Amino acid sequence: MKTLAILSRKGGSGKSTFAVHLAVAAEKAGHTAALIDLDPQASAVKWSRRREGDSPVVISAHSTLLAQVLETAEAGGVSFCVLDTSPHSESAALDAARVSDLAVIPSRPAIFDLEAVGDTIQIANMAKVPIRVVLNGVKPSGSVVLKARKALEMYDVPCAPCTLGDRVAFSYSVVDGVTAQEYEPTGKASREVGALYKYLSRELEGV
Ligand SMILES: Nc1ncnc2c1ncn2[C@@H]1O[C@H](COP(=O)(O)OP(=O)(O)OP(=O)(O)O)[C@@H](O)[C@H]1O
Ligand SMILES: [Mg+2]
Repeated sequence: MKTLAILSRKGGSGKSTFAVHLAVAAEKAGHTAALIDLDPQASAVKWSRRREGDSPVVISAHSTLLAQVLETAEAGGVSFCVLDTSPHSESAALDAARVSDLAVIPSRPAIFDLEAVGDTIQIANMAKVPIRVVLNGVKPSGSVVLKARKALEMYDVPCAPCTLGDRVAFSYSVVDGVTAQEYEPTGKASREVGALYKYLSRELEGV
């Protein structure tokens, strides 16, 4: 089983959006996926209650119980696990990072957000887990991504070559408990999620 932790100390960076989209993308790719929601805000759990059907499995858990929860998931046939985390709890983020194969840090491409990425990198480094930063909510204006990548160079961690745009399909789809790939399969948001999933699964093979 491969486990991805979606981490960011910055609120609203896109953690829950990434978590539900990547869990569904993993199912589409043939995995049995589980999404473990470590955030008391429970965005992923509430999303799953609005969803028809029972896959991917979404459960709420306390981070101190993660090891047992993951063991049970794997024994139950789960092959791809995504952890959605809270921006407020450093200890829960650290617990999540420690049990994961890869930490994904979504960040808006704006300076306050990019500066805050450092706090999250510190947590992932404490857990000695490899990191990929992914720019989220990118507006279609030429130099934003280039400037953001430049700003991220100060951290010396890889930034994904793919990004998620600022697209209504990401916010509309989750209202109905689906994802952009299900809501608008041929849309740009859907293609972006496909590319992100492909990139992260390739990176997971190498860690
Ligand atoms: N790429 C995007 N395009 C459009 N809207 C987005 C995108 N990513 C996230 N959003 C929207 O931004 C808001 C915050 O996203 P989300 O809840 O995923 O962030 P979060 O990091 O989980 O927040 P929190 O820190 O509160 O848990 C939501 O309304 C979501 O629908
Ligand atoms: Mg969230």
